[in-house]
Amino acid sequence: MRNVKDLVQKINKLKKEKNAIVLGHCYQNIEIDEVADYVGDSLQLSRLASQTEADIIVFAGVYFMAETAKILSPNKKVLLPKIDSGCRMADMIDLNQLKDFKAMYPNLPVVCYVNSSADVKSEADICCTSANAVQIVQSLNVPKILFAPDKYLGTYVANQLPNTEVVTYPGYCPTHLNILVEDVEKMKKQYPNAKVLAHPECQQAVTNLADYIGSTTGIMKYAKESQEKEFIIVTEKGVVDRLNRDCTDKKFYLVSNKAVCPNMKKNTLDDILYVLETEENEIIINEEIAKRARQSIEKMIAINV
Ligand code: 13P
Ligand code: SF4
Repeated sequence: MRNVKDLVQKINKLKKEKNAIVLGHCYQNIEIDEVADYVGDSLQLSRLASQTEADIIVFAGVYFMAETAKILSPNKKVLLPKIDSGCRMADMIDLNQLKDFKAMYPNLPVVCYVNSSADVKSEADICCTSANAVQIVQSLNVPKILFAPDKYLGTYVANQLPNTEVVTYPGYCPTHLNILVEDVEKMKKQYPNAKVLAHPECQQAVTNLADYIGSTTGIMKYAKESQEKEFIIVTEKGVVDRLNRDCTDKKFYLVSNKAVCPNMKKNTLDDILYVLETEENEIIINEEIAKRARQSIEKMIAINV
């Protein structure tokens, strides 16, 4: 039988011996929090990856997140517990597709959601995450931009900044697109006093029903600080699991049982132990690509929001 306590002990011992840290995204299986040094959203995890003194970063997340950590900490070893845990949105655009998109709208700055490959980031002017997208676009102070790959996050940004035209690439997150207006309406009927908290990767018809729209950490912070007692959570299940654990005096309802990211759920404690033991699944990036991608990410980090 799988012994979680034993796994946690072994991982913590190896972390100490190898000066390693574990960074975890809040969509991970909640057992990962037992060994994670930090759990947060993409923006917080990028910042931490650029600041850590550790020699090894085990990134419990999806591929682009581990890649971002490697770009920001090129001299550290970055390990991804399950090497095939990709992001289906990031996979919707490659370097040539971005080049074609840019060619259709020449001379416009490109804002690239971090949910993208290092190749794609290397061709962008600046990156953003769901937590800072509006402020990043605003900081450019230009009338028109290209936004890739998430058309829904791009649309959300455009709605917040009526003086900026945002041309969006047609990418999307299948997990968030699976969340339908009917799902939210059904939950609202069932829990009429609950506040609706949604991620901006959802389609606009869904976010239109929300009381708050924000990143995964933004949603958790809002729920924790709110005086309200009931919430319908319109993003991936990992957020609901953590809120239920942390706020036992409040009630959290997952909008739909389809709201699960299959790739985020691939990493387990067993995989973390395995990569710490073997140091397999290391993220390697071409140096020239990494250098150019780093500029886009560091520009984002410098805009301290
Ligand atoms: P956050 O930017 O909120 O961490 O979300 C990342 C993500 O992949 C959402 O699907
Ligand atoms: Fe990518 Fe969507 Fe999964 Fe986030 S939830 S990692 S955007 S596939």
